[in-house]
Amino acid sequence: MATALSSPTSRIGDPLSRVDGRLKTTGLANYAADFPVEGLTYGVVVSAAITKGRITAIDATAARAAPGVIEIVTHENRPDVVDKDKVWQDMVAPKGSPFRPLGDAEIRFAQQPVALVVADTFEAARHAATLVDIRYEAASHVTDLTEAEAGAYNPKGDGTYSPEKSRSDLANPLGNTKAHVEKVYQEAAHRVSGRYTLAPEHHNPMELFASTAIWKPDGSLFIHDKTQGAQNSATYLAGIFGLKPEQVHVVAPFMGGGFGVGLRPQYQLFLAAIAAKMIERPVKVVMTRQQMFSHQYRPNVIYDIAIAADQAGRLQAIRSDCVGATSRFETFAENIVDWCARGYRCDNIALDYRVAPVDTYTPGSMRAPGAATALNLFEIAMDELAYEVGIDPLELRLVNYTSKDEISGQPFTSKALDKAYAEGAERFGWSKRVHAPRAMTDGRELVGWGMATGVWETLFQAHAVRARLRPDGVLEVATASADIGTGTYTIMTQIASEEMGMPVDRIDAQLGDSTLPKAPVEGGSWGAASIGNALVLACTALKAKLLKAARKIDDSPLANAAIEQVEFVGGQIRVKNDPARAIDLTDLVTTEGGPIEVEETGSPKMLEAAKKARNTHQAVFVEVKVDEQLGQIRVTRVVTAVAAGRIINPKTARSQILGGVVMGIGMALHEETMMDHRLGRFMNHNLAEYHVPAHADIADIDVIFVDEPDHEVNPLGIKGLGEIGIVGTAAAVANAIFHATGVRVRDLPITSDRLL
Ligand code: MOS
Repeated sequence: MATALSSPTSRIGDPLSRVDGRLKTTGLANYAADFPVEGLTYGVVVSAAITKGRITAIDATAARAAPGVIEIVTHENRPDVVDKDKVWQDMVAPKGSPFRPLGDAEIRFAQQPVALVVADTFEAARHAATLVDIRYEAASHVTDLTEAEAGAYNPKGDGTYSPEKSRSDLANPLGNTKAHVEKVYQEAAHRVSGRYTLAPEHHNPMELFASTAIWKPDGSLFIHDKTQGAQNSATYLAGIFGLKPEQVHVVAPFMGGGFGVGLRPQYQLFLAAIAAKMIERPVKVVMTRQQMFSHQYRPNVIYDIAIAADQAGRLQAIRSDCVGATSRFETFAENIVDWCARGYRCDNIALDYRVAPVDTYTPGSMRAPGAATALNLFEIAMDELAYEVGIDPLELRLVNYTSKDEISGQPFTSKALDKAYAEGAERFGWSKRVHAPRAMTDGRELVGWGMATGVWETLFQAHAVRARLRPDGVLEVATASADIGTGTYTIMTQIASEEMGMPVDRIDAQLGDSTLPKAPVEGGSWGAASIGNALVLACTALKAKLLKAARKIDDSPLANAAIEQVEFVGGQIRVKNDPARAIDLTDLVTTEGGPIEVEETGSPKMLEAAKKARNTHQAVFVEVKVDEQLGQIRVTRVVTAVAAGRIINPKTARSQILGGVVMGIGMALHEETMMDHRLGRFMNHNLAEYHVPAHADIADIDVIFVDEPDHEVNPLGIKGLGEIGIVGTAAAVANAIFHATGVRVRDLPITSDRLL
């Protein structure tokens, strides 16, 4: 009965290559803008020429007369849609009043979309877009955070955001007054304080935002979108157009990079949908690279840090006071100030977080939002403290090691950061480091060794997963989440293969479709743990259902078998220790005459009831070489040791850490969206002038996964890896630069002009 297996099964822990790798490398994987659609038209966005003010007149006569032009959509002729803030708030919208493309004449930020030109061809639309004559009345703007800081407010206030509420403590977990912390600080043996800053960063995924909208004759809407949440895009559009959720179908099977910018629907989605409704033809809207700088960004911050230690380097006081940028219409807040208090033993901590409105689009989440900002700055201060105390930077971390969350007082489900420090330091050769700056050289280059700690939280979200054995013997496993490039299709395949004893080529993992079982946006490094555990529930339920069906077959060899007595191996259900008593799953489902399926939801409720803190850690060690004559900084070596629970796939896991580390190097040395505050515009809105690390910037990166068994964090012991690689990496680079040169830079990125 058994059929020969054409590919092996895979298990959790195997370095299975990406199951979608071949599709992607051969160009067969369709990204949002790649789908051929009959009768397609092309929309090109016209971006505002001013930063703030209003449109006083639009003359589209010349544009309308241009060849191929079908329609020009502006706030003047846009059909009405549902006009409530609530429906414009997507699943992850911050508090406030979301931006509505072409909603009115008001200009709120540079490059705001002000018109959509739709034509038969992309070229015709792009040409006509240059002919739309728009007149504006400009108002004064503020885009400089140092100027906006005076208007900063506590985002967790009572919702009125009155300036009087500013300067209040966001959290004072230990009951210390600011005055008490200040007093301890002043009396301590060693002190470091300063103002640290991070520049605005844009995500710069390779793939541009793109949406194609197709209205069906029955009034339903079909969308090809670039998004980290197909159901987020679908419910957003359903709300705006007053449709039932099931009347909007969004597909987004692949993403050419997200990093958080795809968490919220971007404006091309609405523009494609409204234009397609107006002209009753499919419309595709793709942003330009420049327009990729016209929406969400990682907010720049001003971070005032003061830390004090006793003679031995034990932390006595931490003051952590940060102001981040937000827009005028929404309050984007992220956890920044508390990360410093989660990492180290300290009794006196005062935290204060505020946001300051500037005239940009609303900033948003970008890889390890908050933590990457916080710890890539705070860990510079820790390095300064090591030099102030006169001990090795790694020693300072060990002296202050804590095995509980300092804010909640909860112990961790697991924390193998100690192992990560030890294994990372060993592999790097940290013991050979000479403590004094400028003491190590290689030819004419100064050599610096720096290190830092990274922390990210281990998150878990409710996901529904469907497992369906089809009559052709293929097992579909599906949820509406997304594979944002992290390898979710692959690990779903592995987990299903192990659970069901089926070969990988008979498993079809499905994601990125709003009609699949309910899932939130994919982000926060929660995908592997959340989907993985839900998938095990689904497989368990499916096995029970399959056995039930198998027992009912005439003369079933499994007639009286209980679930504990059987195993699922080699595409069969068979009695343990009696492999002759077996039924092939394909035969079983063929006999059934239709698919056998189950759907199960894994929710945070399935986690251990005990209140424990759940974090992922990395200890990152960096070598830089600095040529002072040329002002050139090179990161020549990185060793990072990551403690992230059970590793499902070491190949895709390593790839995530490599990506995070590369982005950390970018944050340290290159990435900065530079604003001309007179114009209120990002100047370097292209990949020639916004530098992300290229191959020449990246040398050796060595990734270690330390052993961290964790049976409490979730049943599979998975912690997630998408974000931890960036947290601390930029600080380690900055600290290595100090070690090489003796120059301390507290502003990221450390471009040559800041160093010399
Ligand atoms: Mo991530 S910034 O949660 O996509």
